[in-house]
Amino acid sequence: MGSLLNPADGFAFTAEDFAFVRSRIFDMAGIRLSDQKDKMVYSRLSRRIRELGLGDFSQYLRFLDSSRDEQVHFVNALTTNKTQFFRESHHFDFLAELAAGHSEPLRVWSAACSTGEEPYSIAAQLVALGREQDRILATDLNTQVLHTAETGFYDINEAANIPPGILKQTFLKGTGRHSGLMQPSRALRARVSFRQLNLIGPWPFKQSFDVIFCRNVMIYFDKPTQNRLVTRFCQQLKPGGYLLLGHAEGLDKAQRDFVSIGKTIYQKVAG
Ligand SMILES: C[S@@+](CC[C@H](N)C(=O)[O-])C[C@H]1O[C@@H](n2cnc3c(N)ncnc32)[C@H](O)[C@@H]1O
Repeated sequence: MGSLLNPADGFAFTAEDFAFVRSRIFDMAGIRLSDQKDKMVYSRLSRRIRELGLGDFSQYLRFLDSSRDEQVHFVNALTTNKTQFFRESHHFDFLAELAAGHSEPLRVWSAACSTGEEPYSIAAQLVALGREQDRILATDLNTQVLHTAETGFYDINEAANIPPGILKQTFLKGTGRHSGLMQPSRALRARVSFRQLNLIGPWPFKQSFDVIFCRNVMIYFDKPTQNRLVTRFCQQLKPGGYLLLGHAEGLDKAQRDFVSIGKTIYQKVAG
């Protein structure tokens, strides 16, 4: 098998290596990498090969199968974590409306929370409305993004995405060695619990949720995986609960467990 990329530029990377990576990331995370992702795989994993002092991809891939620690690095390297505060802001308007008509505490799950901007936006929206009892569970497969989320320091430029009234009430501006950074307030941080969870693995939840945000992750999965996930989300929601998806995602027309009630907002059919 010929080399996909010129070893003179770095490490030998064959079509067989690429096929191996695709099969492993699918088994570990449910992520389907398209034919065009070879350069992305090369660039992200060659960094790791260099750090480990290995000679090429085939050596790395043998090591991968023998090391559980490396499997964590591998998944971290191959997930795409783009996110921002108040991304797809209509979902936060919806949350505010829902909270206004809901006297009981809300339980919200941010099911692929990346570096934390999504769950902190949910918390900020609710805290700014004076709601003390709502709780947000935030999960992701990638341990590195969870670490960033829990540490909770963000570049001050990210503040531009947060509605000013909410920003003022819920974020602190860093000073001294933290200048140029901002952090969610203590009240905000107290609302959010972070956990590692693989969406295609078991879910150890005892309680159900009022709202599930699962945005911009299902696009990486194939149809059967997406359909299985939607069925599981339905089981994990309270009757009449809501599932919020990303802008490029939607439910199958054949899906009978939910009704569409707005742009990428679905309500679980009660009963
Ligand atoms: C593009 S980000 C989306 C972040 C956020 N939901 C948003 O819309 O801004 C996708 C996230 O899904 C996570 N992810 C990918 N596969 C996963 C899996 N099998 N289980 C849990 N999280 C996964 C990635 O680590 C990444 O942080």
